[in-house]
Amino acid sequence: MKKNLSSPETFTLLGFGNLLALRILFVLFFAIYALSLVGNLLIVLLVAADQHLHTPMYFFLMNLSGLETCYISTIVPRMLVSFLTGDRSISIKGCITQYYFFGFCVATECYLLAMMSFDRYLAICKPLHYSTIMNGRLCLQLTFTSWMCGLLTNTIITSFLVQLTFCGPNEIDDFFCDVYPLANLSCSNTQLVKLATSILGYMGIGFPFLLTLASYVRIILNVLRIKSKVSQQKAFTTCSSHLIVVTLFYGSLFLVYVIPETETLKELHKIFSFFYTILTPMLNPLIYSLRNREVKEALFKSVRKFGNRVS
Ligand SMILES: *[C@@H]1O[C@H](CO)[C@@H](O)[C@H](O)[C@H]1NC(C)=O
Repeated sequence: MKKNLSSPETFTLLGFGNLLALRILFVLFFAIYALSLVGNLLIVLLVAADQHLHTPMYFFLMNLSGLETCYISTIVPRMLVSFLTGDRSISIKGCITQYYFFGFCVATECYLLAMMSFDRYLAICKPLHYSTIMNGRLCLQLTFTSWMCGLLTNTIITSFLVQLTFCGPNEIDDFFCDVYPLANLSCSNTQLVKLATSILGYMGIGFPFLLTLASYVRIILNVLRIKSKVSQQKAFTTCSSHLIVVTLFYGSLFLVYVIPETETLKELHKIFSFFYTILTPMLNPLIYSLRNREVKEALFKSVRKFGNRVS
């Protein structure tokens, strides 16, 4: 009884612990992490270096890649350490800090994806005014707004979270610290936290989702109205990479929150969380570079340049 009442110093992330040998997981996650860092940093470098990629679309993509480098770094490095050492505990401060940066990145990602679809909407539905509307200044403002919205919503949620006291159970059956599992461990009244989280969660995720959806509805209606099959295809290829990325990200995000968290579906939850937290930052650079001729050309060109310099 006494033990139960003493406040815990640390939490334990049960994560994938019981599923597979830690060593295999370490190698797997190390590969995923390395691949996403290399992919995302490569996109940032390519877009910065190549004149042909100095367009709003690639400017946003560069910013998204920068964000995803941070995003995946909020979760995986800590996981790798715990796979290596076998130590699954995380301090309460560390847990809240992880959630702070993770939540900030998720909300910013949602806003950036919305800005990117707005950009595609203008390019496809308002082609004549596109270059005057989407100038360098607006691009900067839109990315800046995305980062600020992400920062603001999650700073408020976290400010509620730090006021909670923890005094009993300290096991989180997940591989990272998310707000609800964290709040559920608290012995304070968590109604306010949960209310704030749902309102701000709506602002941080729901609102940009609706913006994205609205842009794509307009885009699809517009593309369907185009008579010639060739221009129809051309209009669609400029946004198909982004559409795939958006679908993967929101698809897994919604499944995580829609599927009820029962005993039997718990593993399914983890798999979908794994999708939007870890797999999307790895897949995005692949989707963009394999599907976009311009990115591929920029890549080949810089490889050739590098080869010439070496030989
Ligand atoms: C993305 O945009 C934000 C806000 O404008 C800026 O601070 C950040 O440096 C940008 N990152 C990249 C990689 O372009």
